[in-house]
Parts: sequence; C-alpha cells; structure tokens
Amino acid sequence: MNAVDIIVKKRDGHALTPAEIEFFISGYSDETIPDYQAAALAMAIYFQGMDDDEATALTLAMLHSGHQLTPQDAFPPDTIVVDKHSTGGVGDKTTLVVAPIVASLGLPVGKLSGRGLGFSGGTLDKLESIDGMDIQVPAEQFTRQLQEIGLVIGGQTAELAPADGKLYALRDVTGTVPVLPLMASSIMSKKLAAGADAIVLDVKVGYGAFMQDLENASHLASLMVEIGKESQRAMSAVISDMNQPLGWAVGNALELREAIQTLRGAGPRDLVLLATTLAGEMLHLGGKVADPSEGRQLALSQLANGQAWQKFRQFVAAQGGDLKQVDQPDQLPIARIIEPVLAPAGGWIQEIRADEVGIAAVNLGGGRALKTDAIDPAVGVVLEVKVADRIESEEPIAWIHANDEKKLADARQRISAATKIASEPTEPIELIHEIIR
Ligand code: URA
Repeated sequence: MNAVDIIVKKRDGHALTPAEIEFFISGYSDETIPDYQAAALAMAIYFQGMDDDEATALTLAMLHSGHQLTPQDAFPPDTIVVDKHSTGGVGDKTTLVVAPIVASLGLPVGKLSGRGLGFSGGTLDKLESIDGMDIQVPAEQFTRQLQEIGLVIGGQTAELAPADGKLYALRDVTGTVPVLPLMASSIMSKKLAAGADAIVLDVKVGYGAFMQDLENASHLASLMVEIGKESQRAMSAVISDMNQPLGWAVGNALELREAIQTLRGAGPRDLVLLATTLAGEMLHLGGKVADPSEGRQLALSQLANGQAWQKFRQFVAAQGGDLKQVDQPDQLPIARIIEPVLAPAGGWIQEIRADEVGIAAVNLGGGRALKTDAIDPAVGVVLEVKVADRIESEEPIAWIHANDEKKLADARQRISAATKIASEPTEPIELIHEIIR
C-alpha cells in the first residue's frame, strides 16, 4: 500500500477501503505522509466525495490517532455524559446558555470548544472576555470540576484526534473545508474522542454557515448521526438557520452579555428557542425527560428560575473568571466608539447576511486574520432588527462597537451592504428547519 495509489484511486472516483484510510491517516499523523499528499487526497475527496462507509472509516482513523477521554469514569456507572457541538455560525452563543441549563439539571457537561474560525465566532474567545477566565483546563481539573459542579468548558488539547488538528489546518489553506465527508469526520472524531455518551449537534445552514443549502446540511447531519450511532452514541442533530445572525449581538464581550441576559431570563427569542431546543434534546438523550419537548419546557424553567444562571456563575468561578464582571456585565470590555448604521429608506427587512455581519465583526478586531492575532473583546455589531421587521427611514439597523475610526467606516459600509430593505412585507425566517434523531 502507498499514498500515491490511494490518492489516484480516489482521484479516479473509487471508494477507499478502511485499511487504506487507516494507512493514510496514520502515515499523515506520524509524518511519513507529507502535507502535499494529504492536500491532494483532500482535493480528490472534494471532487469525488466519499460514501458513508468511507466517512465512518475516516472518522475512526482520526479518532484512533490520539487519546479518548472517559469522563463517565468520574461518576456512578449509570451516569450519562452529554455533549453539544455547533458547526459554527455568527452570533452563535448557544453553548454559553445550553451547557449551564443542562448541567443545572444534573447532567454533566464536559465540553471542548473552539476559537473563532473565519467569520464564525468561537466560545473560547467569548469566555476570555472575562478577566481571569482560564480555558486551558488540565485533565485532572477537568474531571474534578465535572464531578464537583457538572460543567467544564475548555480548549481542545493536542492529544484528542490530532490527525484532525493537522488535517483541518491543511484544509483551511487548501480550499477543502466545506466538503461533507471531511466535515463529518472532523467533527465526529473530536466528539467521539471527548467521550460523551450522548451528542447533540447544531448543524447550521445558510449564508453564515459552511453548508449553504438545506439538502447538504441535512445530509451532513444524517451522516454525523449515523457515525455516532455506529460508535454506540445516542445522537440527535438540529438543523438551524444561519442566514441572519443568531440573537442581536455579534462580537465576543457583546455576545457574552447577551448570553448572561438570556441566562437571567431576558434573552432574544431566537436564541432562547434554539438554546432550549438543543437543551431539550440533550435532556432527552441524557434520560432526564420522556421526550425532547418536555426537555424544552424544563430548560425554559431553568432560565426563568435562575438555576441555569447560578450554574454559569459556579462555572466562571471554578475557571478563575471575575464574577463581578458577569454579575455586572457593564464591567465587561466596552468599545470606545458606538455608532449606528441607519436605514436609507423605510420598508421591511428582507435580508441581513450573517456572513457579512460576521466579517464586519472580525475586521473590527473581534476575530483573527492570522492565528497569532490578538482579539479585541469589546468590538462587534449589535443588530436592531431581524428579517421581516418593519423599519423606518433613518432608524438604526445596527450599532457598531469599534475602537478604530477606519474600521468603523468599513463595518458601516459592510453592514449597509449586507442589509436589504424591501417595499413589501417579507416572511420571517424559520429558525429550526429539521431535527434528525
Ligand atoms: N468544524 C470542524 O471541527 N471541522 C470541520 O471540518 C468544520 C467545522
């Protein structure tokens, strides 16, 4: 067996065997197969695809490239550990709401989260808006904290699915990220490595997502659900809309503030709907409720009765974060300049492209152009409207939070171009498209 034959086989449209996939991934991990051959295979997969068996074999090969956590070892034998993963979006602060809700009901949530990628934000960057918050959680603390308060959110370590870490970085610079079997295996290898018994996926679809159409998003979701089930995980995937940003706020401290508001029972409608839907799925898979809709009701009551909020505070304190800032969110970083983008005409909002709003927030300094760039936690965009809302001429579409005049001007232009105003009423966007169980 050799790497060239495997690349040629895929290039010519044939299915690879599990042995060939394992050979390639282990060679790539131990550096006997170089980046350029892995890039060639990724591009061949981009054009020729993979069937579901190949995608499963690729997931397992990447999983076996590193360690697997067993968080349930810290609990009595019948405890179900649950996890949640989003394929990435704009304004997507759901983890900050969902994880405390579920943990406050006694289901342990030990979650490995990521940083912002392209125009999509990352939970770790949002959490780091809090002074002192430590997201590098050593394995021993991870287990102890999970036992003591039932909630940990940390960064991925180099030991978990390292082949994915390498391959993902390569895909990022070779135009091979939005490839269905590569995405499914990348996400699922990390989720399986983190060791939860039940996994709920939030698969985003639309302008601000890797998957732009429902058919592809649905296929991605089904494929990941099948891969998880084959590894004896309880699975569920919610396909949610990402054409417009989720909630009002886009930007790290701004999103954290909105998550805090939501945990205190005053969140935006779409964020509450998505967070409680995901929590309902997790509570159902975790055996806490008879069905997901009962789980959603329970999740709503945890937001109303303050228990999810108290769990969030415990979690922040456990990871060294400054509680003063979460109790009084006006003490979180605030931008120097806050200016509106005004509607050029009255009408109904037809479109607010999530990708463009995400890029505006990144360019304001809320994301990275290079991996090594520092983030400005204060900057971002706060929308005033959603698709289908009525707006009058000169009313604000959004507020830009900036620390630099030139970046402010760029963001203003981008947000204006991202927003279409129609002269006729428009339909609101359905947030939850489908749930695959
Ligand atoms: N997130 C991942 O972890 N991997 C992908 O391929 C895409 C999104």
